[in-house]
Amino acid sequence: MDELRQKYLGAIADAADEPALEELRLQAVGKKGEVSLKMRELGRMTPEERQEMGPKLNALKDEINSALAAKKAALADAALNERLRAEWLDVTLPGRPRRQGTIHPVSQVTDEITAIFADMGFSVAEGPQIESDWFNFDALNIPPEHPARQEHDTFFMSRAEGDHRPPHVLRTHTSPVQIRAMQETGAPIRVIAPGRVYRCDYDQTHTPMFHQVEGLAIGRDISMANLKWVLEEFCRAFFEVEGVELRFRASHFPFTEPSAEVDIRCSWADGSLKIGEGDDWMEILGSGMVHPKVLSAAGVDPSQWQGFAFGIGIDRLAMLKYGIPDLRAFFDSDLRWLRHYGFSALDVPTLQGGLSA
Ligand code: PHE
Repeated sequence: MDELRQKYLGAIADAADEPALEELRLQAVGKKGEVSLKMRELGRMTPEERQEMGPKLNALKDEINSALAAKKAALADAALNERLRAEWLDVTLPGRPRRQGTIHPVSQVTDEITAIFADMGFSVAEGPQIESDWFNFDALNIPPEHPARQEHDTFFMSRAEGDHRPPHVLRTHTSPVQIRAMQETGAPIRVIAPGRVYRCDYDQTHTPMFHQVEGLAIGRDISMANLKWVLEEFCRAFFEVEGVELRFRASHFPFTEPSAEVDIRCSWADGSLKIGEGDDWMEILGSGMVHPKVLSAAGVDPSQWQGFAFGIGIDRLAMLKYGIPDLRAFFDSDLRWLRHYGFSALDVPTLQGGLSA
């Protein structure tokens, strides 16, 4: 009996965790435990023996049970203490500073443009970047032999083998949205359509993907004079620079008649680009009175309606606004240029250093 007592009380004291403790409980006082088996033997004893052994066994069982309970509580305490120690948090520590990201200059300029035209009553229309050749060319009065349709300018999507329909294109301008918008709402209409466009071209002022914002205003008697006022008003609001100078040049687009390209006075002196000064001109937009054939293609009656359209290069405007002389910097350089032009760069260490310059 004493042996049993020492064996189990010792083992309970040494138990490392709850599972070990449970194992000991089963061994000692479980249904087939050593103490329980001993108690079963009581039945076979003489009354005298039973009177002696019964209370002793009961006392041993009680003792083991309370040792188990005490040890269990001690283990739980220790576990809690360990958690409190390990998970301790100093809420008074100052936070780790996170550098803030910044909106891309092109997105920012797009928002600014949208706000200015919204003030003049233009809402925003959208169209797909993968466009059918009908929307991108035919509906805009660009005949099949027009150079813009040749391979060197346009990115063509490939068709499945055996599919002989004309290929879709990456839209080369935002003008197809003119057609989609007029088809959707008819005339009168006043919309802008900002978005990505694609051309196979790459130099200081051209990237294969760039951004345009299309403008379209159709009414009963909208004229070239309205166009000129809207564009001048826009440039004044956008550049916020005294003496922004525009130059309207007679031009040609298949989808406008008459047409004008608009340049802005700038200087490229000492590797920086400035507006409103210097002897250079940078073309920023194409415009004109919407061609009657374009109105017809979009389901608008040209004998009842007329108006203007324009397409502005958003990236060009961003270059001018921020004085960034090379357009390619927007899309294929690292973040250093952003810092150089006064934008605080994104720095997110959790992205496995992928964004660090
Ligand atoms: N779509 C023309 C271009 O990409 C710009 C333009 C738009 C010209 C609307 C006239 C009217 O060059």
